[in-house]
Amino acid sequence: MKLSFKLSPSFSLSMALLAGLASAPAFTQTAPAAVPAVSMSDKSAFIADLLGKMTLDEKVGQLRLISIGPEMPIAQLADEIAAGRIGGTFNSVNRPHNRQLQDAATQRSRMKIPMFFAFDVIHGHRTTFPIGLGLASSWDMDVVTSMARTAAKEASADAADMTFAPMVDISRDPRWGRTSEGFGEDPYLVSEIAKTVVRGFQGKLPIGPNNVMAAVKHFALYGAVEGGRDYNTVDMSPMRMYQDYLPPYRAAIDAGAGGVMVALNSINGVPATSNTWLMQDLLRKDWGFKGVAVSDHGAIVELTRHGVAKDEREAAKLAIKTGIDMSMADSVYLKELPGLVKSGEVSMTEIDNAVREVLGAKYDMGLFQNPYVRIGVAADDPPDLKADSRLSRPAARDAARKSVVLLENRNNTLPLSKTAKVALVGPLADAPIDMLGSWSAAGDYKASVTLRTGLVNAIGKNLIYARGANLTNDEEIVKYLNYLNWDSPEVTQDKRAPAAMIAEAVKAARRADVVVVAVGESRGMSHESSSRTSLDLPQSQRALITAMKATGKPIVLVLMNGRPLALQREQKEADAILETWYTGIEGGNAIADVLFGDYNPAGKLPISFPRSVGQIPIYYNHPRLGRPFTPGKPGNYTSQYFEEPNGALYPFGYGISYTDFNVSDVTLSSATMARGAKVEASVTVKNTGQRGGETVVQLYIRDVAASVVRPVKELKDFRKIMLKPGEEKVVRFTVDEEKLKFFNAQLQRVAEPGTFTVQIGLDSEAVKEKNFDLQ
Ligand code: BGC
Repeated sequence: MKLSFKLSPSFSLSMALLAGLASAPAFTQTAPAAVPAVSMSDKSAFIADLLGKMTLDEKVGQLRLISIGPEMPIAQLADEIAAGRIGGTFNSVNRPHNRQLQDAATQRSRMKIPMFFAFDVIHGHRTTFPIGLGLASSWDMDVVTSMARTAAKEASADAADMTFAPMVDISRDPRWGRTSEGFGEDPYLVSEIAKTVVRGFQGKLPIGPNNVMAAVKHFALYGAVEGGRDYNTVDMSPMRMYQDYLPPYRAAIDAGAGGVMVALNSINGVPATSNTWLMQDLLRKDWGFKGVAVSDHGAIVELTRHGVAKDEREAAKLAIKTGIDMSMADSVYLKELPGLVKSGEVSMTEIDNAVREVLGAKYDMGLFQNPYVRIGVAADDPPDLKADSRLSRPAARDAARKSVVLLENRNNTLPLSKTAKVALVGPLADAPIDMLGSWSAAGDYKASVTLRTGLVNAIGKNLIYARGANLTNDEEIVKYLNYLNWDSPEVTQDKRAPAAMIAEAVKAARRADVVVVAVGESRGMSHESSSRTSLDLPQSQRALITAMKATGKPIVLVLMNGRPLALQREQKEADAILETWYTGIEGGNAIADVLFGDYNPAGKLPISFPRSVGQIPIYYNHPRLGRPFTPGKPGNYTSQYFEEPNGALYPFGYGISYTDFNVSDVTLSSATMARGAKVEASVTVKNTGQRGGETVVQLYIRDVAASVVRPVKELKDFRKIMLKPGEEKVVRFTVDEEKLKFFNAQLQRVAEPGTFTVQIGLDSEAVKEKNFDLQ
């Protein structure tokens, strides 16, 4: 939920104290009253000492994570905090407000334990970067780092200590609206991004003043909800879980994520929020996680609706015993835990275990040293939170152009000449809210450069604009989208008749040399709770494209969407297709950079594009079959749908360029690999075209025969390279045993002897291969 607050001058620390804080970062004025006996440098002794001094009610208060906003007005929140009944809040990135709340904790509460402040910082903070799928399309860890560092600096400067991110749920089902938030379908790519984001947000623990703690989410398997319907159940074999869905969470935790947010779904019959196997055996025991586990919004109470708790009391009992340290956005722990302890149903040790993690996280956020470390001093409060000077536009533009994927480019339609007359049409051509994408909680749509503005910046008067169509003509859908609790109205309808809008667009197209059609989804269509049964463009937009095609002018589709769409029809109609996802505040400029060739696109799909919704789930790394469909040799009794060709329309890893690249055959340093040894696999990649450009060289491995069914191939490494026209580079990958390991039927991670096929290419399908044997 997005909320924002106006600045208020009400804060209560004296200016003398604040002046002291400004010059000396260590907080000394209001350190917890009960602690001086123990040195702060020994984390566990310090926390044990604090715990020993807290009452049961104070302990339970620490486990409550409350949203600032309509749920509870700020004055009431301050009183609750002063009474020791709240441990942290989320949804406020307003320094005066957070200062007021921190004052209540450090001055008015008995224990003076500081609060922490959390916020959803998913793909940028004030500076909205491309959505997760866009960032993943860059396959560029410098881009990911740039987003995470920029976001951490901005969010910490806005008094946030923690973010509920990265969101690393693997999704193989684009019907799921939250696909947009994640980084796609591949365990390796998503894990690389997960690590990079955690490092960028928080660095090592304890985190610094310009960092925010990362709480990785949604643990676990949220992206595998049945049918892609949000909040639906998840049923999955352990092997698939370990092999494909769990690695990114693990990667984030191994990178040091201080927090975990627990998923809303159930897993094989047990909700994550009451799943002791998940939260204790796997997370804490196997993986060694030592941070804080927070529930998702209202998830503990939802245990009653899952039907595993008969009432809220039982829900609280289940959750605390499971190891859910903080209860988000409700009072269920506050209400129920004291009684449960008194009746002996919950032990004080169970309460202490949770409180220890909350205090530990506060310690790691540096809050005991200085509760105001990110709130700062009033004199430094920004006068205008949304000021343009606070934004990192160059970084956002760089990330945006690197997140764009060129899907089609017939007859070299792109890049366009800046002297060409361009007609720009489509409901997303001038849609500042949609540029931001889903979960851009602190993003301001007024800061968005729309495609229309970006094109005007690039070619001025050579642009002719006509809206051409509404997002959809289905008023029920518009009602749904506007019901989402956002900047209002989320979707604005042009009141003219569809035919009149199309007629205007046709007129514009006739005056132009080329037509750019900006189509796709409004951001609310790819959001939490926005699942779809169709992946088609809405009819209103399809009609517009067809009308544009009928003018005979070259058609460039600029897609804005938060999930793979089914584009068979559009593939036939369009001359060029650019998948831009939601590009963030600099999107219009970045897309113009690509359209006019100031930047040569190099994005690669992090998720497969199905031909139609019926193919779902479709993912490149699927298990081998006894009767696989063989391309080029269709036949009965092989695994296929008979109405459509098999396979993705655009496969994982795919994306073309304005230049051409040639990949040589694979060279291996050896045809055999001894245990503990390495084989080097290399190819020579040459830019055979006329322009400089980047591409992503991808390494896949196939285990030819193993004790269990293995995928047809799995991504194991990748390298992004830049090549000038005519230039070639040798790209070397090291293949070691680690890259050959998988979870066997006993869930042991092993590399089994036998033959492996190394596959290298510029997407997951067009690869060169060579075999070697592991001894
Ligand atoms: C979402 C989380 C989010 C939380 C707090 C929930 O509805 O599922 O991803 O972090 O709200 O805003």
